[in-house]
Amino acid sequence: MTQDEMKKASAIKALEFIEKDTVVGVGTGSTVNHFIDALATIKHDITGAVSSSEESTKRLKAHGIEVFDLNSIDTLDVYVDGADEITQHMSMIKGGGAALTREKIVAAVAKKFICIADDSKQVDILGQFPLPVEVIPMARSYVARELVKLGGDPVYRQGVVTDNGNVILDVHNLSITDPKKLETQINAIVGVVTNGLFAQRGANILVLGTKDGVQVIG
Ligand code: A5P
Repeated sequence: MTQDEMKKASAIKALEFIEKDTVVGVGTGSTVNHFIDALATIKHDITGAVSSSEESTKRLKAHGIEVFDLNSIDTLDVYVDGADEITQHMSMIKGGGAALTREKIVAAVAKKFICIADDSKQVDILGQFPLPVEVIPMARSYVARELVKLGGDPVYRQGVVTDNGNVILDVHNLSITDPKKLETQINAIVGVVTNGLFAQRGANILVLGTKDGVQVIG
């Protein structure tokens, strides 16, 4: 099984968590693209979706799935999204696709976060994948200096503007032993919009594609 086949198997399995006549929270990325395609097969059973990015909105709409504004939704049962890294404690690094802020907002509203991933995403300690930080453009250099004080090596993601009009710093060489603490510390830097640590609100369930089949953890 290829990595992409494992992503797809995990995405299809996640349909089991979708209740009839509900609005589904939808993340962003290549694994989620498989999920959106799978969701299209049951589109007449759901009310619609709330999306975490322009990219996912476009794909949802192309399948004829109605996309609701988050402000028009009272409750969201389930949010389905991928991860760049995930630990056994369900803490994650996200934001490889630069959609971290809207992802974190939709995840905050949802009762359950279902993480879909292939098994290359499982790690003991977060930080091998550079931690994305969304920053207000004029604060970029200041935030970068503050991130160095926290022990990281920030790199400006050239040419990328987020859906919110901001920029991304990818922080290399962090060994993240206390993700909740670091999430708070980075959020406290003026000019930071969001960081890609999803530890305070981690995943509730991990649907993991492996070469031996899909495992549901949590
Ligand atoms: C998007 O900003 C990210 O948080 C993605 O969820 C994450 O990068 C996983 O992406 P893939 O499913 O493409 O691996």
